[in-house]
Amino acid sequence: MPGAIYAEGLVKAFGDVRALDGVDLDVPEGTVLGLLGPNGAGKTTAVRVLTTLLQPDSGRVVVAGIDVLKHPDEVRRSIGLSGQFAAVDEYLTGRENLQMVGQLYQMSSRDAKTRAGQLLERFNLADAADRTAKTYSGGMRRRLDLAAALVVSPPVMFMDEPTTGLDPRNRQQLWEVIQELVAGGTTLLLTTQYLEEADHLADDICVIDHGKVIARGTSDELKARTGGERVEVVVHQRDEIERAREVLTALGEGEVSVAAHTRKLTVPVSGGAKLLAEIIRDLDARGVEIDDIGLRRPTLDDVFMSLTGHAAELDTNGETGKEAVV
Ligand SMILES: Nc1ncnc2c1ncn2[C@@H]1O[C@H](COP(=O)(O)OP(=O)(O)OP(=O)(O)O)[C@@H](O)[C@H]1O
Ligand SMILES: [Mg+2]
Repeated sequence: MPGAIYAEGLVKAFGDVRALDGVDLDVPEGTVLGLLGPNGAGKTTAVRVLTTLLQPDSGRVVVAGIDVLKHPDEVRRSIGLSGQFAAVDEYLTGRENLQMVGQLYQMSSRDAKTRAGQLLERFNLADAADRTAKTYSGGMRRRLDLAAALVVSPPVMFMDEPTTGLDPRNRQQLWEVIQELVAGGTTLLLTTQYLEEADHLADDICVIDHGKVIARGTSDELKARTGGERVEVVVHQRDEIERAREVLTALGEGEVSVAAHTRKLTVPVSGGAKLLAEIIRDLDARGVEIDDIGLRRPTLDDVFMSLTGHAAELDTNGETGKEAVV
C-alpha cells in the first residue's frame, strides 16, 4: 500500500530545466521524510506538486490516499503547508492571521481564537500578537507562517525549509513542535539545508540533485555508504606529525591525510575503540604527544558533500550545475 505521501515518476520542466526528472517518493504514515538537496535541486518544485500548487508534466501523486491530480480540492483539506517563503497577510496582526486561517477551515470563531492564542504562545509570538505582521522580523514571520500551517492539525504536513532564518532557540522549539506532531500520527515531508535537522527529525532521507533522487535511506544507512569510521589525531607539535603518520599508516585502513597547519591527521579505520586504544599506546611508545584524539563517524554533511559535491548551508545564490562526485 502506498504511504501517506506517494509520488511516482514525477517530471516537471521549466523550459530547458528539468526541475523534476523522474522523482519517486513513498513516505509511510506517521513518519518524517527529509528531502535534501543543493539549491535548485527541485525540492520546492516537488513540494509544490505534492501540495496541488503546480501541475507536473507527468507522474502520479497520491497524498493521504487521494489522487492529487484528480482531486486537488480534497487533498487541500487533508494537508498543511508551510512554504519556503512565509505567506502571511502583512496588514493583519499575528492573531488575526491565525484566526483567519481557522475560519477558512470552518472552525467556529471561538475555537479559532483559542487555537490562535495557543499557537502564539507556542511560537513565542504572544507579546507581538496584536501588532500587524508587517512590523515582524524575518524570524517572526516565519514562525507565524509555521503557526498558520498548524491551526488545523492535518494528517499530512509539508514544510519547505521550516527553520531557515530561525535562531537556535526557536529552531529547537520548532523541532519539539514537529516531534509532538509526528508522535501524534502526522506524516511530514520536510526540506532543509541543515543536515543536523534532517539527522534529528527525519526517519528517512532522500537526497535530490538536478531533479533526480541520487540517494535514499536512513541517516545511518547514508553515513555507512559514505564510508566507515575514521580516527582523528591532533599532535602537540609539528615535528611529531611524521612519527604519528607512521603509526596511523600501520594501524589504519588507507591513506592518512594531514592538515599541517592544525597538526591534525585523519585515517579511515575499522576496529573501533579497541583500535583507538592501540593507536594511543603506539603513539605514546613513539613519544608523540597528543592534544586531541577521537573516533569520528561520517556526518550527514560528509554524505551530502560526497553525493552532491556541494557543502550544505553554504551556497545561497541559487546556483546549480556542479558535478556530483559519486
Ligand atoms: N516557476 C519557475 N520558472 C522557471 N524555472 C523554475 C521555476 N521554478 C523553479 N524553477 C527552476 O527549477 C529548478 C528547481 O528549483 P526549486 O525551487 O525546486 O529548487 P530548490 O531545491 O527548492 O532550491 P533552493 O534550495 O534554492 O530552495 C531550478 O533550476 C529553478 O530555477
Ligand atoms: Mg526551495
